[in-house]
Amino acid sequence: MRVGILTGGGDCPGLNAVVRAAVIAGTQRHGMGFVGFLDGWRGVLDGETVPLDEAAVRPLLGLGGTVLGSSRTNPFEGGAEQGVARVQEQLAALGVDALLAIGGEDTLGVATALHEAGVPVVGAPKTIDDDLSATDATFGFDTAVQTAVDACDRLRTTGASHHRAMIVEVMGRHAGWIALHTGMAAGAHVTLLPEEDVDLDAVGATLREVLARGEAPLVVVSEGARVHGDEAVRNAPRDAFGHVQLGGAGQALEHEVAARVPGLSTRVTVLGHLLRGGTPSAADRVLATRFGLSAIEALAAGDLGTMASLRGVDVVQVPLADATGVLRTVPESRRAETAGLRW
Ligand code: F6P
Repeated sequence: MRVGILTGGGDCPGLNAVVRAAVIAGTQRHGMGFVGFLDGWRGVLDGETVPLDEAAVRPLLGLGGTVLGSSRTNPFEGGAEQGVARVQEQLAALGVDALLAIGGEDTLGVATALHEAGVPVVGAPKTIDDDLSATDATFGFDTAVQTAVDACDRLRTTGASHHRAMIVEVMGRHAGWIALHTGMAAGAHVTLLPEEDVDLDAVGATLREVLARGEAPLVVVSEGARVHGDEAVRNAPRDAFGHVQLGGAGQALEHEVAARVPGLSTRVTVLGHLLRGGTPSAADRVLATRFGLSAIEALAAGDLGTMASLRGVDVVQVPLADATGVLRTVPESRRAETAGLRW
């Protein structure tokens, strides 16, 4: 069997580790051959591939990003039927029998539709945001949180030196997992998530209390936190997809804090894509490797239309269709754990 591997959507640490595990296990255990499609679905549509063999993937375990490249190209943009036909044509022309699609909501959504149209495909989930509902965890998250915590530890010392409030914006457009875990691990005084209504007066009161103790406040805010007042939301700069741009939440919060704690010096640091880069943590390398191994066993067993998923401590295959639609956001029970506590 010749398998085409692609990585789609935003990159994250651990993508290369999935590719490495899949190619090594597929080659050694099942005599499979592999090609890599460049830049996600774009490479499939354009028939642009790179050879993938054991020698090519061995050095990849600790390498950040994706050697296959990534894009947000959606093959169904010009119509689902034409998209499916084009993918099938290209796979036949290249002698590719099956696909391993590594991606998030969008990439796995396309994979689901291709499966329903009869294309042999399995998936592996990825996102630093850790918000896919069909798996208990995604690789990339652990690395992203560690990077954010390291940054907070550094910002805390400079904040203390200058008696400033340091506002740190982390990624997480729809779900606040990165902010929640960063805030807990860095000991932030305030942590704001997209899942909750932001009480700006309460934030101001907390900051005043921290200052009164002689400490410099540390605030972690998710990029998707609803900090903006109505007017600000209407006027906020947006990206091509209509999302409030990275940095918007941090800036809005600085503005709101200035109105509530007069005279306080603040600085905003937008960690943004820093969290997606760099070498994956040990935990992410392990999870990514396990996802790659599971996906290959599924292909070998003909368990198509499934994706690797962490359930408790086990990696199992679940229907690809379950990966999309509903995002796994931070539940009330997790927010309640720390509610009302002054750190
Ligand atoms: O991978 C998901 C994510 O990290 C979001 O948290 C963020 O909003 C988005 O990617 C930004 O992606 P890009 O700017 O690369 O399109």
